[in-house]
Formats: sequence, structure tokens, C-alpha cells
Amino acid sequence: MSDTLTLDCQHVWHPFTQAQTAPEPIPVKSAKGIRLYTEDGREFLDMISSWWVNIHGHAHPTIAAAIAHQAQTLEQVIFAGFTHQPAAQLAHELVQRLPTGLTRVFFSDNGSTAVEVALKMAVQYWSNQGDTQRTRFLAFEGGYHGDTVGAMSAGKGSGFFDTYGSMLFEVGLLPFPATWDGDSDVAAKEQAALARLDEYLADHGDTIAALIMEPLVQGSAGMRMCRPEFLQALAAKLRSAGILLIFDEVMTGFGRTGALFASLKAQVTPDIICLSKGLTAGFLPMSVTVATEAVYSAFLGETFDRSLVHGHSFTANPLGCAAALASLQVFADEQTLQKLPQIEAWHCQGLAQLAGYPQAQHFRVMGSIAAFDVVAEDAGYTSAVGAQLKAFFHERGLLLRPLGNVLYLLPPYCVTEAELAHAYQVIGEALQAI
Ligand SMILES: Cc1ncc(COP(=O)(O)O)c(C=O)c1O
Repeated sequence: MSDTLTLDCQHVWHPFTQAQTAPEPIPVKSAKGIRLYTEDGREFLDMISSWWVNIHGHAHPTIAAAIAHQAQTLEQVIFAGFTHQPAAQLAHELVQRLPTGLTRVFFSDNGSTAVEVALKMAVQYWSNQGDTQRTRFLAFEGGYHGDTVGAMSAGKGSGFFDTYGSMLFEVGLLPFPATWDGDSDVAAKEQAALARLDEYLADHGDTIAALIMEPLVQGSAGMRMCRPEFLQALAAKLRSAGILLIFDEVMTGFGRTGALFASLKAQVTPDIICLSKGLTAGFLPMSVTVATEAVYSAFLGETFDRSLVHGHSFTANPLGCAAALASLQVFADEQTLQKLPQIEAWHCQGLAQLAGYPQAQHFRVMGSIAAFDVVAEDAGYTSAVGAQLKAFFHERGLLLRPLGNVLYLLPPYCVTEAELAHAYQVIGEALQAI
């Protein structure tokens, strides 16, 4: 056993892992582009951007250099009562790129805290205006928003958090109209979801602060995709009921769906948006919650209790801001958004090759995300086929991590046609083997 593994096994507690039955973690020594290099001399192609964060690939020199430079200038400073150039500049750059109207950037540390901030903003937006009844939330079945208490409540439809049920607050759940290539029922599913919303509005409309959702793609639920038309119809209903719309773009942000943000692709502007993961291109933990001027204005007043009582030690950490600015620079330098239709086309070719396998169904692609379901009697996150497939891919040097019986690819945008074709070939072999 390597030193790393010995020490890890003695002292480390890993996330989302049953340590008693899981295989030993693989010590990674370094990474570059789409490749991970392990301590024992193996190579892995990172086809999931290391939990969906490394959008430009690992160790991008522009971003590494920006962090190194920033570290020698200002590594950290309290963000209450002080500010700094990287944070102000990043806020400006984000507002230029987000849907028009999202103008106020609140910094925090990760996707879950970005969601916590959004939920608190929504409740206080109403209470600051004297409406203390609007405290409930709506969310979607399957939706996942992170692992802190508010985020777990909003994501209780993911099914991950039943153990913590006693800690969670009440959230109304709508069915998510997931669709795929050749799905003929999508209109009926959308109508059913909108009808459920109408029922909620009729019964509880006056008490709902906001609806939170992952726009266009539910990530952890198994890369479940919906149509822009559905989001547009949903947003119109919420707007006429005066309910805030929160888009959790922690996964879909920064190009994943083919546009810089899913909200731009769907042509729907939320009142509040949550961003993380791709924000720093996977280099440093940081997130933002961006609100409209109308939401921000509701927090202004003469007294402290009207302000947003939220903050973290590392709020707007300058290194994170420098990484995020450099990532936006890479988008411009490498014309990254123009590469995304190509990746989408390669996914379509790869999935077409798998179409003959009877165990593969519900093919779906959006931007750099491709997914399909493997037919399984125990379909769901704990499906046995997921662990089987993961082990098969690891043996062949592919980092793919099925979500139960859902197999998905979400590579960094530097992936080449040959690398993706190789991944699809190995997936074909896996389907043959299981
Ligand atoms: C849509 C969505 N929201 C929130 C989160 C939580 O982000 P974090 O893991 O950075 O707390 C995730 C993480 O996967 C996510 O996919």
C-alpha cells in the first residue's frame, strides 16, 4: 500500500462513500487536460470533469498562473467593510454575461451555500416587505441542490436525504417532465407538472416564497433533461402569481448545456441564480448567488435586521476570484463556446453506436452532457449495475461514475473527438459484458 493509501485508510472520511464496502480510493499524483495520473503509474481519462467542475481540463496554465500571481498580491481579506479588485471585476464580468436583470452578486464557498443564500434571500425578500407568510418553497421531484440543511430540504425530492428528514423543512414537490430522444409523451408530462403547480398555487399560493430548480438538466437525478418551452410556461405562471424563481445553475452553468448558462439557452430570466463548480474552472471552491436589483433593493433600509445576515470567512476569496476571471479569459481566448456544438455532435455519434444495445435506452444529449439509462430491475441511485460499470471503466482507465443505472459523460471542453470516441467504444464493451 502506498503511503497515501495507508494514511488515507487510517484517517480520511470520504464523501458519498460506504467505506466498509467501497473499493480503496485511487491516489492521484497529478492531472493535465483530460488526464489524471495516479501514483502507481496509471492514466485515467476524466470523462466527468471531476464531479463536473474542471470545465477547461486540469491544470490549465492560464488559470494556474492567475492564482499564483494573485497569491503573491492579496491572498485573502475580510469582505465585510472591505473589497478588492478581483471580486469587483468578477461581479462586473458575470453581470455582463448573465441574463439581463441579474445585477447583484453575493459570494460564498460552494454550490450548497449558494443555494442556502438563495433560499434566505427569497424568504427575507418577502418579510422585509411585510409579507411574513411567504415562507414555503416549491421544488421538483429528483431535484438536488446540495447537502446543507436548506439545500437538502429543497432537494428532498432527490431521495438522498430520508435519514435527515427530521431536520428538513416542508417543500412542495412538482413532477419533473424528463424527456429523451424519441419521447412521445413529453407534452403530457409537462401539462401534468404545470397542472400540479396550478393546484399548489390555488391551495398555498399566498405562502410560497419561491420555486427552486435546476434548469434544463437535473444533474444528480441522472442527467434528466426538460424542454425550454416547459421552463418558459412555468416561469410565466410563477410571475403572474408573484412567486420568485431560483435557478440552481451550479451544474448547468458555464457552458454545460451548450450556452454559457441554461437560463440563456431557455430564454428564461430567474430572480435569483446560483453558480459554482465551473465558476473557478474547478481550481478553487467558490460560488455566487446573483439576484435582480428588485430583490437587492428589498434589503436596503436603516436597520441591520433588513440586511442579509449571511457571510463566510472566505467570502469572495481573492484567489477564487482570480481563478474565475482567468476562466472567463480562457472562454474568450479559446473560443470555448464555439467548441460545444462539436462536442454535442460527437456525443450524438457515440450514442448512435450504442443504439443497438437493448440494455441502453432513453438517450439524451445537451451541449457537453450525454446520458442514457441502463435497463435494470433495481433502477435508481443504488442500482447494482452502477458499481459494476464503474469498476469496468476503472480497469480500462476511464473515470466514469454512473448515477445508479444512468450512465453519463460530462467531459472537460478540451476533450478531443478521438478521446470521446474511445470512451464510447469502452462503453459499448461494457454493455456487452454486463
Ligand atoms: C445542481 C447542484 N446544486 C448544488 C450542488 C451542491 O454543490 P456543492 O457540492 O459544491 O456543495 C450540486 C452538486 O453537485 C449540484 O449539482
